[in-house]
Formats: sequence, C-alpha cells, structure tokens
Amino acid sequence: MSEPKKLFIKSYGCQMNVYDSERMAEALGAEGYVTVDSAEAADMVLLNTCHIREKAAEKVYSDLGRLRPLKTAKPDLKIGVAGCVAQAEGEEILRRMPLVDLVVGPQSYHRLPAMTKAVEGGARAVDTDFPEEDKFDHLPERPARAVGPTAFLTVQEGCDKFCAFCVVPYTRGAEVSRPADRILSEARVLVEKGAKEITLLGQNVNAWHGGAGGLGALVRHLAAIDGLERIRYTTSHPNDMDDDLIAAHGDCEKLMPYLHLPVQSGSDRILKAMARKHTAADYLRLVERIRAARPDILLTSDFIVGFPGETEADFQATLDLIEAVGYGTAFSFKYSARPGTPAAEKTPVDAAEADDRLQRLQALLTRQQKAAQAAMVGREVKVLFEKPGRQAGQITGKSDYLHAVHAEAPEAMIGTIQRVRITRSDPNSLAGVVTNLP
Ligand code: 5AD
Ligand code: SF4
Repeated sequence: MSEPKKLFIKSYGCQMNVYDSERMAEALGAEGYVTVDSAEAADMVLLNTCHIREKAAEKVYSDLGRLRPLKTAKPDLKIGVAGCVAQAEGEEILRRMPLVDLVVGPQSYHRLPAMTKAVEGGARAVDTDFPEEDKFDHLPERPARAVGPTAFLTVQEGCDKFCAFCVVPYTRGAEVSRPADRILSEARVLVEKGAKEITLLGQNVNAWHGGAGGLGALVRHLAAIDGLERIRYTTSHPNDMDDDLIAAHGDCEKLMPYLHLPVQSGSDRILKAMARKHTAADYLRLVERIRAARPDILLTSDFIVGFPGETEADFQATLDLIEAVGYGTAFSFKYSARPGTPAAEKTPVDAAEADDRLQRLQALLTRQQKAAQAAMVGREVKVLFEKPGRQAGQITGKSDYLHAVHAEAPEAMIGTIQRVRITRSDPNSLAGVVTNLP
C-alpha cells in the first residue's frame, strides 16, 4: 500500500473555521489524506483564514511568506488558502502569492476533493462560488473518528444584517439555516462518538429558522438526545433573541447559563451609524428579560472602539453600558476599516485616541471578569473535564458558565461531568476540588 498523503490545516479566527477545518479534513480523509500537526510533515498545507479585521487577513500573507523556504525545498508541497480571505480576495491571492496552488471559499469546500486532484496534477485551482447546492449535502457523513467531550455543530451560516463595519455578509454570504433533521442526526452521531457537549454555531445562530419554532425549539429537540449533557450556541444578535429562546434558558436544563450577546457599542448614535438596528436601552431591556429567565446567566459581548465618528461621550456611553450589564468576560477590538464595507468610506478616529479607549475599555472588562471569577470562589459548579491540565496530576475543563477550571483528579475523569468546589481564581481560570474524591 502507498504511504497516505499528509495534510496540515491551520485555522484562524472563529469557531466556525475550526468546524469547517474538521469537515475539510474529513473530506480529504476520504481521498486518502491523514492529518499531521506541522507544515514540515505535510504534502498539503491548508490555511483556513479569517478576514474580519485587517490584522487577521494580513497574518495569512506573512504565514504564506514563511512557507516559501519549505516549498522551495519541497516543490511538490501543495499550498491552499481556504476561508474568508479566500472568499474576499480569490484570484488576487494567486497573483500575489505564486506559491499558492489552491483557493477555496467557505461555501464551496465540498469541492476540495476534485480541486485537490487538479492541483496534484499540476494545475492551480480557485473556487469562490456561492453554489446552489448545500455543501453539507456533499460532504462525508461525520465524523468517522471518535470526538472529544465537546464538539461544534454549524446550524446556520451567513448574515443579512450588514452592520456597517463587517465583512461577514460578503465573505459568508446570505443567511442560510440547515434543516433540523440533519442537525439532529449529526448531533446524534457526535454524541455516539463521545461528545457530551455541543456548541451550535452560526454567524447569527439565533436567527436559525431551519424548522418550526426557531432556535429555542431546536435546543429542546437536541436536549432530548440521551447522552448529550450540555448545549451552547454562538454567536447571537440581540434582535434575534425571541421569547421562546429566552424561556429555554429558564426551563431547559441542558442549555448552559452562558450567552455571548455582542452589543458593539453603548452609544445610540454609534449603534445607528453601525446599522445595528437596536439602541442601548433595547439591549439593556433584553438583558433584563434574559436574567429574569435565568438569573445566574453569564453574559459576554464584543465591543468595537474607535468606530468612525465615535466621540469621547459615545465611548463613555459604552463604558456606562458595560457597568450597567456586568459581563463575565468580553472581547474588544479597535475598529478596522474593511474594504467594501460602508464604514470604510468614513473618516477614522485618531489612532492614538482609539488605542487609549481600547485600553480603558479593556481595563474595565478585566475588572468585571475578575469580579465574576472571584464570585465563583466557594461555590460548587459542574465541570466537564476535557484534557490533562498543565501540571502533572491535574485535569482541566469548563464549568457551566464556561470558566476554565482545573483540579487534581484522575485522568479517568476526562470526558465526565463532576461537581467541583471552586477554591481560587487565577487570571484566566479557576482552581477547584472535585467534591466526590476522597
Ligand atoms: N473592526 C473591528 N472589529 C470588528 N468586528 C467585526 N468587524 C470588525 C471591524 N471591521 C468584531 C465585532 C464582531 C466580532 C466577531 O468582530 O465586534 O462581533
Ligand atoms: Fe457582522 Fe453584524 Fe452580521 Fe455580526 S450581525 S456577522 S457583526 S454584519
């Protein structure tokens, strides 16, 4: 038998890219590729890229530059660019980077096996279509192999919201929901193969409409799967949080008390300029309703500072909103002008001013994160252990609230949910003891 061909995939950016990378590996697995964990060991390198901010997109080009000596030493090495940079820049990547053999967008990667064959024959291949057919119908049933205790499952893709700063509607395309029966059967397989927790993914996951009743109904259907212990979903738009999904946080035990609900800004003027179609007050009211259903829910958000036109007063309004909500943690970014988006035409905020605001915002968010973690000390939480910890004898996993928790416990507990009393809060994790250990 001939040696299997070796594939190295690097994922940038969001969790959906992680999921897509797994599915690309499975598609190429059917063509005889096995995955390896370095470019040096590979016959084919695929970079699954992110276009959300300039820095992320530029990193791809510097990583490609770094692959040049490898390709010179090993001319048969094939190099592919997948994901959102591939979608946004297409042919341009081949022009700018002669070492690239293949460019494939996020909606057409089910065609990778055919493209790979062409590339193995010496061709260069580009596919950035938004095909009529659903890629998921043309990918191998998944997964062939065992999976870890946690798994991602894409239920929705694309975005019709067109926030003024965002490339996603252009790179991922229009909102599409996968049908409920496909999602449920994929979830059952993931659970059979070892998953205890599934995170439903979508750029606007709570706009899912692949079956009656919306995402709340889907969550309840998933909750009926034996062996599936935990359900999460991300990322949600505030305008798509409907009553039933909010209610599910109160009455569906398997739905975890954690919600990533990006607001971007606390200033109504900036929210309007961003085309977010909600006000700060709308968001605060929504938070109140969610907390009425599930008082202990941990909320997180994304923030953009230095959006064109943002004044110090607008920025203060964002700090006020953060104070009013009280986040468990949050992601914050300096505005990055993206080609083709409406905001890119506007005059940017002074860079030093934007840097200063980002620092002040992050200081406040760090304080809130610390407080949220400190509030866990002394409490008992449930932890799904996922892997060995950094220190010998430790294992680590996530609490219901998605805090990273480590404890001294036998490796046999990996893949199980245990009650853990939290004893200490470290900068980005919690330490605890498993309560049913002697
Ligand atoms: N500049 C900075 N941050 C951005 N995001 C999206 N587009 C941009 C941009 N042009 C952030 C938003 C979004 C997160 C995924 O990335 O906060 O919620
Ligand atoms: Fe981008 Fe806005 Fe769509 Fe989120 S909702 S993906 S920020 S356009």
